[in-house]
Amino acid sequence: MKAVFRNWASSVHLVLSIIGLPYTVGTSGICRARPISRIPSLCAYRSVYMFSATHIKARCPVYPGSHTNRFPVPDDKVDWETDWPQYSPVTYTAPFVLKKPVWADPEIGEFSPQFNSLDGSVDRRSHEDTYRILNGKPLNPHGRTGLEGRGLLGRWGPNHAADPIVTRWKTDSVGQRVHHTDSQRPVLQFVSIKRIDCGEWAIPGGMVDPGERVSQTLQREFSEEALNSLQASSSEKEKIQKRITELFNSDGLQVFKGYVDDPRNTDNSWMETVAVNFHDESGNSVSELPLQAGDDAGHVTWIDINSSLTLYASHSHFLETVAKERNAHW
Ligand code: BGC
Repeated sequence: MKAVFRNWASSVHLVLSIIGLPYTVGTSGICRARPISRIPSLCAYRSVYMFSATHIKARCPVYPGSHTNRFPVPDDKVDWETDWPQYSPVTYTAPFVLKKPVWADPEIGEFSPQFNSLDGSVDRRSHEDTYRILNGKPLNPHGRTGLEGRGLLGRWGPNHAADPIVTRWKTDSVGQRVHHTDSQRPVLQFVSIKRIDCGEWAIPGGMVDPGERVSQTLQREFSEEALNSLQASSSEKEKIQKRITELFNSDGLQVFKGYVDDPRNTDNSWMETVAVNFHDESGNSVSELPLQAGDDAGHVTWIDINSSLTLYASHSHFLETVAKERNAHW
């Protein structure tokens, strides 16, 4: 199914490229990408993405950060449309989520969320389609996960994140671009962080705060991750912040917007993200960020982009799209 979707999407990509239309291919179909402008709002990014999230990580046997086992869901039973009277998911919401931190909803019954809409400052709309509500609870639009409740997630329904993919070309000691010996293509590098929660390397993304625009989250998360760990004076940090602002005000390439196959997903709560690539083509902007080396002590570093990367959630899919769009090695 996934392969079929990919082939279908590639053909559409090709056709739209030939007829010269800007395009977006997502899990919910194709739409015209909005025009690129220099205004750093979400609609300003040129869009290109073409993969569909199936539940792989969202069916991991043991729910992250817990000893709770998901009810096993075979591939052919993920789809809610498949009748499965024996389905008996376990219920789990992490104790600290139930303590109602500011970023989390109360339990269903204790409040009246406006699902599928902008609910005050909380955006409960999916980037994909309208989702169904069953017994007062939102139903994961990508199917069964073997677990009910919210797990580690704060919101019932979509939990929105943003992923800034900052790239540069890899260069050698004399500043020449490095080409990969197999593909002969130039090698791209991206700013990667080691996540504290699971120890996996990842794009330095984060959650969209209530009322925040995705474009703001992209820059805020990147600045926090890239700058906090720097051993730099405050004047140096200010200089770096200025470069970051310039880069994030440049035309970004939206590589994904939608549902993510995340290990924290449940039948009632799930992650969605917008991933945007900001590329330092000349190498004289954020490429010069003095990031730490990628050893055990380092939490942020430039990493070569290639197909053997194992990264958090769907992040390697996002990088594949970036590499292909920029004709880089993959
Ligand atoms: C992470 C993002 C990720 C998203 C979905 C968020 O918690 O910060 O990087 O894309 O979850 O997996």
